[in-house]
Amino acid sequence: MCGIVGYTGKGLALSPVLEGLRRLEYRGYDSAGIALVVTKGAPLWIEKRAGKLGNLEEILGDAIPESHSGIGHTRWATHGGPTDDNAHPHLDNEGKLALIHNGIIENYVELRAELEKRGHTFKSETDTESVVHLLSDARKTHKGDLAAAMREVCGQLRGSFTLLAIHSDEPGRIVGSRRNSPLVVGVGEGENFLASDVSAFISHTKRALELGQDEVVDITASSIVVTDASGKVLPHREYEISWDASAAERGGYAHFMLKEIYEQPKAIADTLIGRTAGLDPEITAGIDLKGINKVVIIACGTAYHAGLVGKYAIEKWADISVDVELASEYRYREPSVDAQTLIIPISQSGETMDTLMAMRYARSHGARVFSVCNTNGSTIPRESDAVLYTHAGPEIAVASTKAFTAQLIAMYLLALHLGRVRGTLDSKIAHEIELELAELPAKVEQVLETVEPLRELTRKFKDSSSMLFLGRHVGFPTALEGALKLKELAYMHAEGFAGGELKHGPIALIDTGTPVIAIMPAVGTLLAEKMASNVQEVKARGAIIIAISDAPLASADHLIRIPSTHEFLQPILSVVPLQVIAYEMAIARGNDVDQPRNLAKSVTVE
Ligand code: AGP
Repeated sequence: MCGIVGYTGKGLALSPVLEGLRRLEYRGYDSAGIALVVTKGAPLWIEKRAGKLGNLEEILGDAIPESHSGIGHTRWATHGGPTDDNAHPHLDNEGKLALIHNGIIENYVELRAELEKRGHTFKSETDTESVVHLLSDARKTHKGDLAAAMREVCGQLRGSFTLLAIHSDEPGRIVGSRRNSPLVVGVGEGENFLASDVSAFISHTKRALELGQDEVVDITASSIVVTDASGKVLPHREYEISWDASAAERGGYAHFMLKEIYEQPKAIADTLIGRTAGLDPEITAGIDLKGINKVVIIACGTAYHAGLVGKYAIEKWADISVDVELASEYRYREPSVDAQTLIIPISQSGETMDTLMAMRYARSHGARVFSVCNTNGSTIPRESDAVLYTHAGPEIAVASTKAFTAQLIAMYLLALHLGRVRGTLDSKIAHEIELELAELPAKVEQVLETVEPLRELTRKFKDSSSMLFLGRHVGFPTALEGALKLKELAYMHAEGFAGGELKHGPIALIDTGTPVIAIMPAVGTLLAEKMASNVQEVKARGAIIIAISDAPLASADHLIRIPSTHEFLQPILSVVPLQVIAYEMAIARGNDVDQPRNLAKSVTVE
């Protein structure tokens, strides 16, 4: 989960590289660095610093030499702490070759031992530095051909990588490669870009090229050559980027997260457009959904919680068994999978390594794959039989909000579609759900108009050591999501429970003054009564109840009212106050809302 940028072109490289790093900083912010080719054959210009990009920008000053090609990196540390020496780019011993890397090189220790025997000296603890010295030797073997050297080196690496390299002997040339880690080409006029994702160069061009596994890309200001591992030149797979640069700006909000919370009505509406009455055949053409006898949803974090909600809808409307699996656990169990299994990977970024590798495991055993993703052109949809894109727009804040509610919409749409394909969904019920779905953007707007008091309410609990979240049915995954938001933003212990599970142990956690957020099932349902009893149980033991409900609740100390909707759709409305509470708690605790500590937006390492 690092940010990778390369620029070569008629313009000076520093500015687009820095701009790209700013846009990619959400991918990791433990350190940052830039290398530029200034004088042919001389050592490269390089600056790198631990900490956020701002630390690097502070020391750059004005005395930067002019250069038309360079690379930049913002790091999420894997091997070696966030120090200046461990910051990328890494150099060969002559200082003329620079390399940046995203991913994990699993055989770096043995490579390093071999390279030290050959006389290479190391300055860092990183796995990446082994690659730059390997590349330096390979470049000599290939008489200076950096692309041929890169192909050779990639064949020697185990693990995942996005690599970019420059050499001062060849000003204007950047060579890159990828395996299980994102890299995309930006095609400009008299300039070209390489980056982890399109947000790095979208203000310069909306033309992008996909790169496949172990492909090597070799760019100059006026040329782009893509080859496979054998050196065979491949045709360009160009696509148009579907959103514009302004969407990736903060737009006057204090934080990206707040902007994205308020973008949820549009994200939901855009994801629904043209789909409630059925999915377009061009979406489903690549997959045969008849004859499946099992659905397995695989995802991580917030996307996993969306999958848990999807389970209830798919099982109810499509009458089929659904498992929801943590992607990082799934393949290591070696589960039984066959051609009758439908795998649904859910991923905002489309690059989450755990989810990608779990999907590949299932595909290798014959499963059919229908992914849900928010990033067009990313790896997971590219390797799926079909993809239902969410249209939430770029989600910059590390804490996922609009992508989550858009993923919920995608789950409902898939559940409706499967129900229709399998003939298990009564058309009257389907129509009722369609009507309720269409109401959701306006109902989320209504919720957003009532969240102002949550700032004051949240501050009452800013010094609490823990907060518990209770829910039943689709409210249980919502409770898990609320707890995750609070953990990742407020760095506060938080835990979500199924309401009926409390009495089997967790109720021992309740003490006088323990804040408990109760996500109440839709009023009038059996579970609403059960949940009211659960609330009484914890209140009787001293808990302070913050209830999110579509109806009054006498036992609530604080009531957050939300509009009514179909019981399965309620998470779309009840999650919004939870997002705002986590946001306000982060601010009350003085945390970095958009870039919480230890995290990154896209987890592209296992
Ligand atoms: C959510 O707030 C987190 N940022 C994290 O749990 C995220 O949902 C998870 O890493 C999955 O990411 P993906 O949707 O891009 O695959």
